[in-house]
Amino acid sequence: MCGIVGIASENDCVKGIIAGLYSLEYRGYDSSGIATLNDNLFASKKSIGKISRLENAIIKDKISGNLGIGHTRWATHGKPTLNNCHPFIKNNCALVHNGIIENFEELVKTFALNETCIKSETDSEIIAEICDKLLNEFNNPIDVIKKISQNIQGTFSFAFLIKGSDSIYATRRGSPLVLGLSENLNSISSDVLGLPDETREIIFLEENDIATINPSSISIYNIKGNSINRKKHEFVAKKDFKTKGKFMHFMEKEIFHQPICLEDIILNFADKKTNSVFLPKNTIDFNNISNIILVACGTAYHACMIAKYWLEQMTDKHVSIDIASEYRYKKNNIDKNSIAIVVSQSGETMDTLECLKKFRQNDLFTISIVNVLNSSIARMSDYVLPTLAGPEIGVAATKSFTAQLAVLALLGLHIQQQKNNIEKNVFNSLFSIHESIKKILKDSKRFEEIAHSLRDAKSIFYIGRGIMYPIALEGALKLKEITYKHCEGYAAGELKHGPLALIEDQIPVIALAPSDHNFSKILSNIQEVRARGGKSIIITDKAGSIKAKKYCDQIIVLPDTNYLTSAIIYSLPIQLIAYHLAVLLGTDVDQPRNLAKSVTVE
Ligand code: F6R
Repeated sequence: MCGIVGIASENDCVKGIIAGLYSLEYRGYDSSGIATLNDNLFASKKSIGKISRLENAIIKDKISGNLGIGHTRWATHGKPTLNNCHPFIKNNCALVHNGIIENFEELVKTFALNETCIKSETDSEIIAEICDKLLNEFNNPIDVIKKISQNIQGTFSFAFLIKGSDSIYATRRGSPLVLGLSENLNSISSDVLGLPDETREIIFLEENDIATINPSSISIYNIKGNSINRKKHEFVAKKDFKTKGKFMHFMEKEIFHQPICLEDIILNFADKKTNSVFLPKNTIDFNNISNIILVACGTAYHACMIAKYWLEQMTDKHVSIDIASEYRYKKNNIDKNSIAIVVSQSGETMDTLECLKKFRQNDLFTISIVNVLNSSIARMSDYVLPTLAGPEIGVAATKSFTAQLAVLALLGLHIQQQKNNIEKNVFNSLFSIHESIKKILKDSKRFEEIAHSLRDAKSIFYIGRGIMYPIALEGALKLKEITYKHCEGYAAGELKHGPLALIEDQIPVIALAPSDHNFSKILSNIQEVRARGGKSIIITDKAGSIKAKKYCDQIIVLPDTNYLTSAIIYSLPIQLIAYHLAVLLGTDVDQPRNLAKSVTVE
């Protein structure tokens, strides 16, 4: 998804902007660009593809300046071409834009623009044209930005350079922007990760705020143009998350980070000595609530599917789940005695955010489970449960998924605790999850072997029953996403209702089969596959392996689990298989084609 970096510095800003753009690569993009203002002249470079191409272009043909804005573009209006790349420069104004201007065609008429000046297919260039035009009418750039903002329908964050001014100007609505403050420079970015390392404090801009940023100071104004103050937050160093260290890819690093994350989450929210779960600042009485509604997208939605199994097993609540892009556009009969939970790694996913707004319009109490604190979703919800996984750079969600599961499991135990019926054995088992995961990671070679055996498969099936069904869906999503191989996740009981017709020896079936109450059933499903010439790989535990050995071509034995720990522990094999297969096939593991990390458009 598009990213913005702007730096106002006492020194040259170009290196810092390029570094910021590199940090935003994880969001997904297809082209990038930069513009500086030097001696009241604009200089600009744009490039299709990786940031390294933009950097090389700048090395060959240097540009410099103390004021600069940069952009990574993820195409929405128009293809990834140089013409459509930001920044857009029009006489006295250069701008970068994130978001979607819904009324961009009307704006051409409203501001009587000369259409022959519009060279790109984007919605953004029109705003640069309007800005330049209004700069001739108004003395003050703030008044220009106010006027633009008042006329736009849609979502935006903008950073502008304006000739004759030594400030960067920025504004936002529905798309995030954060200011970075430090001694010799100030900056702006769409994401904390895009800010320079020397940043000391940060300020999140609120809806419709307008900011001016120069090397020694920043000012913020509201839509009326009145000066306002916003809260400063300490900037937490992000250097550690930005390097791969000993790992080949961020995804690998993030998979291996899971024992630490999970231990951190459990120890932050649960106390083994007193058998209790502490949700920070929680004042919700779940005894007064009969329904829980969960919505999310993609991997986060799979976490919600698992939560439905868990919460209905652990509590007396009725739990409903929806894909956010579906929920937001349908009629929903909402029982007022419900609580709404949205789950999102980035906290910026547009469809999830829109569901949150819908819940609020229906006066429901809203909880968000997010990894990025201070994200739009976090700031809009009544109560925030952080997933504490740290920045996730790889586009494919890994540690954020297991972190979401851990938090949802803790939520289930917390609801039990409020009824004085917390399941102590299950609660205690959370404290050893990180050890089980360490064991799996120690032996990660086994998954490389499985990946080799899948290399030539025409298509792959993951099957599971109960809680393992959403894990099968997540396994298929991970494989598709980073290996570009077709894979289906299926509820094992559904095989005979259609997909068995596809089974042949080129289509391996991976069964997720802990020895729980569903085990004998899934063993029958595996036999159905083998009877039709299909190959089977079984992922199970020690007890399961004794019974399953004779029914499979390959077997992976995992530590023992219960209904709460199984989802987290069985997530590791699906991540590792996808990762090793992607490495083997030579795909772009951390930035798979066509995908973005933070999906801030519909
Ligand atoms: C898959 C993946 C996506 C996200 C989805 C929601 O690996 O990462 O499916 O889970 O785009 O994103 P968030 O969680 O940021 O709302």
